[in-house]
Amino acid sequence: MDYLTPQVKAELMNAIEDLSLSDYTENDFINIMEESMVPLQQFFSYYKCAIMEVETKFKVLNEQFSVKSESNPIEFISSRVKSYGSIMRKMVKKDIPRNLGSLEDNIYDIAGIRVVCSFIQDIYKLADCLLQQDDITLIKMKDYIQNPKPNGYRSLHLIVEVPIFLENEKRPVKVEVQLRTIAMDFWASLEHKLRYKKNLSQEKLDMLAADLKKCADDSAQWDRKMQSIKNILSEEE
Ligand code: GTP
Ligand code: MG
Repeated sequence: MDYLTPQVKAELMNAIEDLSLSDYTENDFINIMEESMVPLQQFFSYYKCAIMEVETKFKVLNEQFSVKSESNPIEFISSRVKSYGSIMRKMVKKDIPRNLGSLEDNIYDIAGIRVVCSFIQDIYKLADCLLQQDDITLIKMKDYIQNPKPNGYRSLHLIVEVPIFLENEKRPVKVEVQLRTIAMDFWASLEHKLRYKKNLSQEKLDMLAADLKKCADDSAQWDRKMQSIKNILSEEE
């Protein structure tokens, strides 16, 4: 109890009263709360482990390719476990049953990994290599590079299942992998900011969306040009 601020303590005690759980002592109540967190911590820990597995696979591939071609296909990797709040919002939006099993079955991006490369061909090469591995199962692939979204969004999305090895069990866990170029990533982070701008007029939002679409088209052309320059340079070697 010592780690709780007086305000939190007071709120918890109010909650106890509201729930007519006043038969419990303060300590009983905190213990119940702590115990009920364990399955949730376990749930999130599966996804943390799956991220470690898949991230390592990409790091190994990066290392291998750098030995072969003296350059690293991967510029950087970032990862995150979806926040509890975002999971809850998605659960409500998708109207799925409210239990952990159903979250596991229906929400595919609880574990997310983003792999950012300089060149488009490296994206496909890395994706192929990952999918060839015999412990990786492809659940879904969306190629927004071949088929960009109407707003201009490009990236290659894979939902894969990877086994994690626990004390007494092997457990398949889903991970969303987004592979993109630096240009695609730069674009997506700016576009993401636009999505959350609610205080702009519709006219201004439309104008910015049109500008962003133009940037997406221009940067796609850049990506293609840079790739062909690189290909020519590699042939020369
Ligand atoms: P959710 O969007 O995750 O509910 O699922 P979905 O089935 O529509 O998946 P999709 O593959 O389209 O998108 C999954 C993720 O890709 C999103 O959570 C974003 O991180 C990213 N993404 C998809 N579309 C866009 C986009 O238009 N702009 C940006 N900035 N990111 C996008
Ligand atoms: Mg998502």
